[in-house]
Amino acid sequence: MRGIQNKIAIVTGAGSGIGRAIAVRLAAEGAHVGVFDINRQGADETVAAITAAGGKAVTQLCDITDYSAVKAAVAAFETAVGPTNILVNNAGWDTPMPFLKTDEAFWKKVVSINYFGPLHMTHAVAQGMAERKSGRIINIASDAGRVGSSGEVVYSGCKGATIAFAKALARELARSQITINNVCPGPTDTPAMDLFVGTGEQGQKIRDSMVRGVPLGRIGVPEDYPGIVAFLASDDASFMTGQTISVSGGLTMHG
Ligand SMILES: NC(=O)c1ccc[n+]([C@@H]2O[C@H](COP(=O)([O-])OP(=O)(O)OC[C@H]3O[C@@H](n4cnc5c(N)ncnc54)[C@H](O)[C@@H]3O)[C@@H](O)[C@H]2O)c1
Repeated sequence: MRGIQNKIAIVTGAGSGIGRAIAVRLAAEGAHVGVFDINRQGADETVAAITAAGGKAVTQLCDITDYSAVKAAVAAFETAVGPTNILVNNAGWDTPMPFLKTDEAFWKKVVSINYFGPLHMTHAVAQGMAERKSGRIINIASDAGRVGSSGEVVYSGCKGATIAFAKALARELARSQITINNVCPGPTDTPAMDLFVGTGEQGQKIRDSMVRGVPLGRIGVPEDYPGIVAFLASDDASFMTGQTISVSGGLTMHG
């Protein structure tokens, strides 16, 4: 991809699943990657995979729900590595539960990770991008935020909010040549999915039913997303902002 070589990228939640695959790809494209995660072991494994392949990456411990911690983590990373060119807001979390069985503590946790997390990271990073008049922000949202997902009501609301947040901010920051776009995965085989549906026979049944809803006949794998993220971070996407792209095997089709 044109324009990623020697860029500095932050990927949140890059210690697992989709975030790890994105971090590995951006590093393979020549970026120096900050692996931001609350889980040191997972982050270190991602960094080890990238460095073993000849790429550049560092672990940066960060809890995206805590704005002070986010500001400190971004400052520490930028002091050590340099100003951030690319931010991928990927970290997310949910556990399936009917809405009427959820409580206030659960709503706060879901909203803190899935909505306040990207908001905190974007506020901490975009300030410098605006001063430098360039930057790429890519949110890993979800098809749940476009069409809804039963058992994931509050999470769906957060992902929908993230999409609208990105559209509004894309308008505000366009004059600073910062682009902001959303990528929406469908159901994807990651550790989060194992927690979501379980790994036993019942889990397999749920996976099989998910596959039946996907025209391309399978659920996603983490490697389905780094290509579109790298494109959105590249020079080839410089005239594209405020857009939302589903990468979900045709599960949802938007005009
Ligand atoms: N797996 C799916 O089916 C699916 C579908 C649609 C969208 N998504 C979205 O893709 C993204 C990645 O999901 P995944 O399936 O790879 O999940 P995952 O659980 O495999 O990885 C999530 C990572 O985020 C980190 N994280 C969680 N809370 C954090 C916090 N407070 N601060 C910093 N890091 C934190 C975790 O430690 C983990 O490394 C999420 O935003 C998720 O909502 C996933």
